[in-house]
Amino acid sequence: MNMPLIVGNWKMNLLTDEAVVLAGGIRDFVKSLSGIRVVLAPSFTLLSEVRNVLSGSNVGLACQNFYFEEKGAYTGEVSAGMIKDAGCEFAIIGHSERRHLFGETDALINKKVSCAVEKDIDAILCVGETEDQRKTGKTFEIIEQQVCKGLDGLKRQDLQKISIAYEPVWAIGTGENATASQAEEVHHFIRKTITDKIYGNGISPLTILYGGSVTPENCSELLANKEVDGALVGGASLNIDSFCAIINAAKSV
Ligand code: PGA
Repeated sequence: MNMPLIVGNWKMNLLTDEAVVLAGGIRDFVKSLSGIRVVLAPSFTLLSEVRNVLSGSNVGLACQNFYFEEKGAYTGEVSAGMIKDAGCEFAIIGHSERRHLFGETDALINKKVSCAVEKDIDAILCVGETEDQRKTGKTFEIIEQQVCKGLDGLKRQDLQKISIAYEPVWAIGTGENATASQAEEVHHFIRKTITDKIYGNGISPLTILYGGSVTPENCSELLANKEVDGALVGGASLNIDSFCAIINAAKSV
């Protein structure tokens, strides 16, 4: 199993002053911890300030999105080269809010994953079913499709630069998290899909995060599950106490 990975997805929140205080608090808390990887994903405008705060620390920096083209006439977009230049080692790709609010398709997400790997950025590929898809028994079909299309064309050695985040859409920002056994079932299915349908046996251990209403109250049970290698945390990552409590829980399981 890989080192637990805890990613704070700040989404479209915080201004510079707040971000600097929060990132500084997290940096100080994580300073003396080993055996765990903590990463913050601020909005684009905060990357440079947060990078300064995290400089020389053991907390990593991620972007929440980027565009796969290198450069050119793509008004409003930010390239992988730019996010790397801004200090990002990680990129969240295909978050459900990108898929559902901004129409990102599996094909577009696949281009972003390939581009991240090419640029030596660790990709965090998000997958997850909607409430309706779960209720109608389509969870595994949807997950298989998102995983297989998201990884299309990528080589088995590329997996070292890729983590998957299982984020059921019905659990994101709703206060209703998946249970540990629901997460376990889907994480297991993702591993099996990646071996059986794509690469075959013998791939290096894959990090699979759970995301969706992770809180200090529910994280211990989720993170204690052997299939869960970490968490992608939204709302609870905006508060120093709750995010540090989640980091602590990941450290102690
Ligand atoms: P949440 O968001 O923790 O607020 O549910 C998780 C995410 O969207 O990554």
